[in-house]
Amino acid sequence: MSESALKEKIDPARLPSHVAIIMDGNGRWAMQKGHLRMLGHQYGVQAVRNVTEAAAELGVKYVTLYAFSTENWRRPQEEINALMALLVDTIQSETDTLMKNGIRLEAIGNLAQLPTACNKQLQETVEVTKDNDRMTLILALSYSGRWDIIEATRKIARQVKEGLLQPDEIDENVLNSALNTSRYPNPELLIRTSGEQRISNFLLWEIAYAEMHFTPVLWPDFSKDDFYQAILDFQQRDRRFGLTAEQLHS
Ligand code: FPP
Repeated sequence: MSESALKEKIDPARLPSHVAIIMDGNGRWAMQKGHLRMLGHQYGVQAVRNVTEAAAELGVKYVTLYAFSTENWRRPQEEINALMALLVDTIQSETDTLMKNGIRLEAIGNLAQLPTACNKQLQETVEVTKDNDRMTLILALSYSGRWDIIEATRKIARQVKEGLLQPDEIDENVLNSALNTSRYPNPELLIRTSGEQRISNFLLWEIAYAEMHFTPVLWPDFSKDDFYQAILDFQQRDRRFGLTAEQLHS
């Protein structure tokens, strides 16, 4: 099979080390086809496979997927139950593939809120895959950016109260290390599917300098080529981090 023409255009020396993805549009994809919303989530799993495989093949080191937000708990109970069951099934059935491909699974979020079976399966796969080092796949589950910032603030406040830290010592590094995402580099590219152009409480602190890629493609239709397109879009951006172009390129 011939390699994708898009893939060949990617410069392997300028890959984002961390790509974060808001997987959106599963419900609309299903409704457009006259199906129940849940079918969209089921087909969304194939898109998760596409992206994981494409990212690992390219050499991207971290991929974070927004799989279930704090706000998603307000969805109909039936959809929540079905999504949690799908997560358990998928994590279980994909564990072998993760092992074969050297991928470590990790999770961020308020995991204690997940149903026991879901949390248990997650912990099991996280443990089994912990020594893999080709790529880390991070699932954001019962996660929101504000939730994590509040949790981090509480941790820091306790350290101050115990006299381990002075208020003036609180800086970006202290906050970084109190977040659920402390062990990952900040995402350099954020992708959102389905045409919506919002952040929806995802990785608020971490995306300070991320490039945004919005695509109208609904998540279940998101292919490897769509992922390559997002990387190419990223590679065409002039990333300045607040500096002038002259400063950066001198
Ligand atoms: C957003 O579409 C999608 C979700 C809230 C869930 C994503 C879950 C999966 C793709 C399945 C399993 C994932 C993993 C990582 C194993 P939406 O329902 O908000 O779509 P809509 O905006 O069209 O309603």
